[in-house]
This record gives sequence, C-alpha cells and structure tokens, in this order.
Amino acid sequence: MSAILPPNALADVPRTPAGLLSNREKDRLIERAFLGLYRWYTARSQETRNWNPDQSFDWKSLRHDLPKEIMTAVTGFFAVEQYAPDYTSELVNLVRRSHGRSHFQLRWGSEEEKHADAWENVVLFSRQRSPAWIEEYKERLRAQQWHLPFPDAIHNLVYTVFQERATQLNYLNLMRLANGKSDKVQNAVDPVLARVAQIIAVDEAAHYNFFLEGARLYLYYYPQRTLEAIKNVIGQFSMPASYLVPNWDEFAETVYRAGIYGPRDFSRDVMQVAFRNLGIESRKKLEEGIKATREVPTFDGEQKIQTAIWDTFDYGSVEGDVKRLYTRIQDYEQGIGFDAVDPTEFVPNPEMPAVTQPVEAAVQASDD
Ligand SMILES: [Fe+2]
Ligand SMILES: [Fe+2]
Repeated sequence: MSAILPPNALADVPRTPAGLLSNREKDRLIERAFLGLYRWYTARSQETRNWNPDQSFDWKSLRHDLPKEIMTAVTGFFAVEQYAPDYTSELVNLVRRSHGRSHFQLRWGSEEEKHADAWENVVLFSRQRSPAWIEEYKERLRAQQWHLPFPDAIHNLVYTVFQERATQLNYLNLMRLANGKSDKVQNAVDPVLARVAQIIAVDEAAHYNFFLEGARLYLYYYPQRTLEAIKNVIGQFSMPASYLVPNWDEFAETVYRAGIYGPRDFSRDVMQVAFRNLGIESRKKLEEGIKATREVPTFDGEQKIQTAIWDTFDYGSVEGDVKRLYTRIQDYEQGIGFDAVDPTEFVPNPEMPAVTQPVEAAVQASDD
C-alpha cells in the first residue's frame, strides 16, 4: 500500500510502533483463538448438551392448569426464541469472514432453535393455547424481522454477552418458581417445566461463556474500543426482539412481579456478574476511566493506547483469564493432535503493563 502512495501522504498512514502488535496481527490472533474456542465448544456441546426438544421431556405430564403468570412468561420466552433464524442469519453475515465465529454462530443458532421448539411445546402441552392460536401467533411474530442492535462486530459481541446472561437468569428464576423455591407465584410447581427451564439455562450459560471469552480477547488486545463498546451497550440494553413481540409490556410487568427478571436483576445479576468476569469494578469506574482517556489527546491514532485505560479495568486478571483460555484450547488440540500440525499459540499484547509491577509504576513506565 505505502508503495503506491505519494511521499507526503505516508505520514497519514498509521504505523505500528516497534515492538507492538499491528491491528492486523491482533485480528489474526483473535480469529485464531475464536477458531480454537469454537472447536472446543462444539465438542463439548455434542458431548454434554445434546438434548432434543421433543424427546428429552415428558410432555404428557406437563400440568394443564399452570398459573396465568407462568403462561405469560413462557409465551414470551417462546416469542423471543422464535427469532432464532433472524439472530443467526444476521450474526453469521456480520462475521462471515471468520471461520471460528461464523461456524460458531451456526452451532449457536442450532441450539437457539431448540429453545424455540421446547418453549413452543410448553405452550402447546399446557393445553391453554390451541394449535391454531400458536400458529397464528408464530405467523404474527415471523411477519417481522429482527435486525442487529449495533452496526459493528465488537458492539454486537458485547451485547450478546449481556443478553445471554440475562436470558439465563430469566430461565433460572422460572426454574425456581417451577421447583417451588419461590413464592412470588402461587401454585407454580411443575417438574417438567422446571426441567425445560434448567436444560435451556445450561445452554444459555454456555453461550454466555463463549461470548465472554470472545469479549475478553477483544478487551485484551483492544482495551479502549472494547471498554467503549461495553459502556455503550449497557447504556441502552434491552432484551432481543422486545420491540417485535406483541404485548411486550405485559410480559415485562409479569416477569418483574413474578421475580423472574427486572431492572434490579439486570444490574445485580447481569451487569455486575459480567463486569466481574471482565475485570471491571463498576459502571462508575468504567465511565470515569473512559472519560479520563478522552481528556488526553493522542496523536498516534489507534496505535497508542491511552495510559489511563489501564486504571479502568483489572488487566492482570483479564490476561490471566485469556491465558487460561489458551490452555483450554491447547489441551483440546493436544487430544486431537492439532498441536503437532498447527497449534494455537498465545502471543502477549506488549502494550499491556507488566502484571507483576504495581499499577502506578507500570503506567509510569509506559509513559516514558
Ligand atoms: Fe436461547
Ligand atoms: Fe443463548
């Protein structure tokens, strides 16, 4: 590229300072890790979560007199999961150039599709909705199309981290009701419903973990951009398809009153859990950190990371988690024999201050 540019334009091309990774190298490392993670994930999914929405549950034993609140909740879950083909096609298209990520989205889509079918079976076998009602409802849902909430890959990846955790929490809290562990809805006990909610919640936990590992990789190699994406996503978070599902407000009110999901659950059990997993202390700390990085001008474009960014999150714990991910991938590859042919290898981000140094000394060092 530089060979065809006039000499006076060369200064405008962002150059990578010696010893640092170029964006191209970072992207290659992230893609490679995604591929290893996707392979590990698929093997584990097939081994441990290979259930079937028709055959894995005793549908004939589902109660026919489930309370109205439970019916509203499961109908809402059924509606949200109904958009699995839209979620999958939009996300696959967004990451289509990445082997690991696009193939993962297909696998993920095949799991989300099972959730839609399992919730539909709950609605059908509850005998509280006729097959004709369900058919018409599906037609109404599918007449509309879901689109990506954000235009770029990092924001959508971060959004999915929070969304998967929020979905898992919804199902776990429904499971508690169906197991008689919560008295927010009377007469809600049903072992079949509890099992459906539990099995789907385990899938959602696996999804959360996959996207979390991916977001951590971005946070490790592109801290500034990723932290900004996290801030933007939590600033406008809503459940997927909430603007497409009929009577969403009634659903939201019902799950809130039933103790399944509400704003406090998002703050305490979604945002704070994800923050902890990403080495972020609090929303306040995140916002202050990003503000601090904006106050210092940078003349190097994206290549030089603002030193203030290192105070925004616990980069030591993030690096430790990223290294653990590589160990997991490498163990998997050893089992197959990939390690002898084409191993996935961890490459540290040299911009990251040394973990053994106190934070202040490290910031000082990178200023020099
Ligand atoms: Fe799902
Ligand atoms: Fe999911």
